[in-house]
Amino acid sequence: MSSPLRVAINGYGRIGRCVLRALMESHDRDSIKVVAINEPADLESMAYLTQYDSTHGVFPGRVQAFDHGLRVNGEDIPVFHAADPARGPWKSLDFDLLLECSGAFGTRAKLQPFIDAGCPRILVSNPGHGAAEVDYTVVHGINDGGLNADQRIVSAASCTTNAVVPVLDLLDRGLGVRSAFLTTLHSVMNDQPMIDGYHHTDLRRTRSAMQSIVPVATGLAQGVERMLPHLAGRIQAKAVRVPILNVSAIEVSANLARPTDPQALKTLFIEAARIQPNLLACTDQPHASIDFNHDAHSAVIDLGQIRVNNGDFANLLVWFDNEWGFANRMLDVAQAWAGQFSDNPDPVTAEIAQISSSGA
Ligand SMILES: NC(=O)c1ccc[n+]([C@@H]2O[C@H](COP(=O)([O-])OP(=O)(O)OC[C@H]3O[C@@H](n4cnc5c(N)ncnc54)[C@H](OP(=O)(O)O)[C@@H]3O)[C@@H](O)[C@H]2O)c1
Repeated sequence: MSSPLRVAINGYGRIGRCVLRALMESHDRDSIKVVAINEPADLESMAYLTQYDSTHGVFPGRVQAFDHGLRVNGEDIPVFHAADPARGPWKSLDFDLLLECSGAFGTRAKLQPFIDAGCPRILVSNPGHGAAEVDYTVVHGINDGGLNADQRIVSAASCTTNAVVPVLDLLDRGLGVRSAFLTTLHSVMNDQPMIDGYHHTDLRRTRSAMQSIVPVATGLAQGVERMLPHLAGRIQAKAVRVPILNVSAIEVSANLARPTDPQALKTLFIEAARIQPNLLACTDQPHASIDFNHDAHSAVIDLGQIRVNNGDFANLLVWFDNEWGFANRMLDVAQAWAGQFSDNPDPVTAEIAQISSSGA
């Protein structure tokens, strides 16, 4: 067997812990190994929050802190606490890829010090502050084919971009999208306070996350346009945070170039889910959001919520686990990228990369 991809995790919060856990819970990700974690928190809290998770439940294994790291299912993972990337131990670590999961480094200027300090490559868990801040942005299953060995900083986009781009792409290729409006209903995040408090440049994020539906700024339209540039200027988006711990939804409203009806849209999505079963799913069950907790798909299309007005105006509801789905996409993109810079291509992602690069 070829050697595994050696990754380090920077920032061990919601996404960092989900990435580790997704790796440990998976039966087909032996090709990735976590060799270090960098996180400001103390070891005891890190072990505790890996073992016990209010959203994803008790970790199905054993996590302990030891003198300089975490012991997960008997495997030792060294932990560092360097807030400044230039002071990280990157040069002395034998690893291939940093999974940047802190969200604290949104620009190239902030990410470059990791590279200068010895990180071979970085996969970022957010879109960054713009396309120019990274070498490439991937929505897994859409454009993995553009990954290459020369790139140093790659973004895995956002959870919402991963959920909506495959759906918009399908609508566009099947029926033509003239314009679309996207509304994200997103669960709370750690950048909101429990009760009102000074917090953010976005004034509404100072308000209690548990008490209100809170409209927040979103870069989703720009994120979609980065993936589907021919739709530039035709996408708008807004987002609200809702007082639940996890799982989000996007309402997609699209003006279509060709007429359709709900049955034709159902057929389109069911067929797409058949082709990419790990990324897309459809449901005809009367679900509520909690049912998608710990669901690894990028998007689940609610077939019972498809509406078409006047033949060319479609309205959809798309569910996604913003934590678990995205953590799994981080690992998928890591595997797909590794296929370009190591001699260890993952067979499934290599196949997806080939499909996406051929434009099929
Ligand atoms: N949560 C989601 O649903 C979701 C989905 C997709 C993408 N993302 C993106 O993923 C990123 C992280 O989100 P999250 O929800 O996981 O946030 P989080 O729970 O707040 O986790 C971030 C972790 O990084 C740590 N950190 C802060 N500065 C650091 C530094 N300089 N070096 C190393 N670690 C540092 C934080 O410690 P302190 O708490 O001490 O600052 C915290 O433990 C964000 O960019 C977010 O947009 C999140």
